[in-house]
Amino acid sequence: MHAELKALEPCDILLLNGPNLNLLGTREPSLYGSETLQTIESRLFARVAETSLRLGCRQSNFEGELVTLIQQTKTVGVKFLLLNAAAYTHTSIAIRDAVSAINIPFVEIHVSNVYKREPFRHHSYLSDKAEAVVCGLGGMGYDVALDFALENLKGDL
Ligand code: DQA
Repeated sequence: MHAELKALEPCDILLLNGPNLNLLGTREPSLYGSETLQTIESRLFARVAETSLRLGCRQSNFEGELVTLIQQTKTVGVKFLLLNAAAYTHTSIAIRDAVSAINIPFVEIHVSNVYKREPFRHHSYLSDKAEAVVCGLGGMGYDVALDFALENLKGDL
């Protein structure tokens, strides 16, 4: 079922996850671990709540929705994007164009080490646009990416 896309709410840091990441915790745990996306999001929310910044978290299985949400970052004041575009990392010129258009710094995240996996996962349409790439750290990769975003936003704290 494809429900209507809910507009992005104002936030300083947006954590955006792409297709199948709603299944974290049960999806191929040997690759992606046992932590759910909800657990990861709650942990990041708690960390950002200790600052004066606001975190937004969204997940979508649809490429066009991810593009629309990336476009909306500009109008709701997002200053830093944490992006796991999942399989679209390796295929989507549309998502590349969207992150290029907004000109907001972002970290590309992968839970698994994509370089230890199939060759088609070794290419990313996003890496050369990203400030940094985190991969293979499991759920902890999201925390490391958040550390980096907070460091970058120090002046706004
Ligand atoms: C992923 C790696 C991608 O290759 C894959 O398609 C995913 C998740 C990761 O987090 O390891 O869905 O981005």
